Amino acid sequence: MHFSIFRYNPEHDDKPYMQDFRIDLESSDLMLLDVILRIKNVQDDSLTIRRSCREGICGSDAININGRNGLACVTNVRKLREPVELRPLPSFPVVRDLVVDMSRFWKQYHSIRPYLVNDEPPPEKERLQSPAERERLDGSYECIMCGCCTSQCPSSWWNPDTFVGPAGLLQAYRFISDSRDRATGERLQDLNRDPYRLFRCRTIMNCTEVCPMGLSPSRAIERIRLRMLDVEGHGGGLARHRVPTVR
Ligand code: FES
Repeated sequence: MHFSIFRYNPEHDDKPYMQDFRIDLESSDLMLLDVILRIKNVQDDSLTIRRSCREGICGSDAININGRNGLACVTNVRKLREPVELRPLPSFPVVRDLVVDMSRFWKQYHSIRPYLVNDEPPPEKERLQSPAERERLDGSYECIMCGCCTSQCPSSWWNPDTFVGPAGLLQAYRFISDSRDRATGERLQDLNRDPYRLFRCRTIMNCTEVCPMGLSPSRAIERIRLRMLDVEGHGGGLARHRVPTVR
């Protein structure tokens, strides 16, 4: 198969370039990460990619594959159009080759306080939830923070320091909808303190399109907006009337 891979080592290269690699694959069920590692081991050991679990769990090998963000370790290489173009996640600063600097991404994530806030005295064993309360977390707690969604979101490209981005907002929704959390009002106010923080989302839905876990940050953002209108006293009915709900 023919691969065209983004290369850039700031210690040696004046500017990035694409490098061609050709490799014979005997098996049809290889994942893209296996092939990249084989190219690295056999043809060019300077080729750099971040990875860990190889199981679609850690989110560290998110890259841009033929123009679409995804996880290399769960992408079947035979399904890809040739030449397979591999680039680092768009809009994130490149550290080297396919590895990006995610500092800004993590900064936005931490800004939403990604942990339970509850000052009530802890119960003897644990803070219990009913099955229905627990079910409300489905679709948000599974996020692996790979960055595919935020990197493919035009609103994040234009406002990386002000817009929280789809991954951070999905996590914000995860805690807003948690029955054990006591900071819902503060969380909603915080997302409304700057017009860019939440409302910069234009419902382009690239985030939902590329999420390797099949989650919908776009829907979570819509639900935060609805909660915000409820909390501010406009009533859910009006909110549903004014803001289109993504289903
Ligand atoms: Fe962990 Fe791919 S290596 S998600």
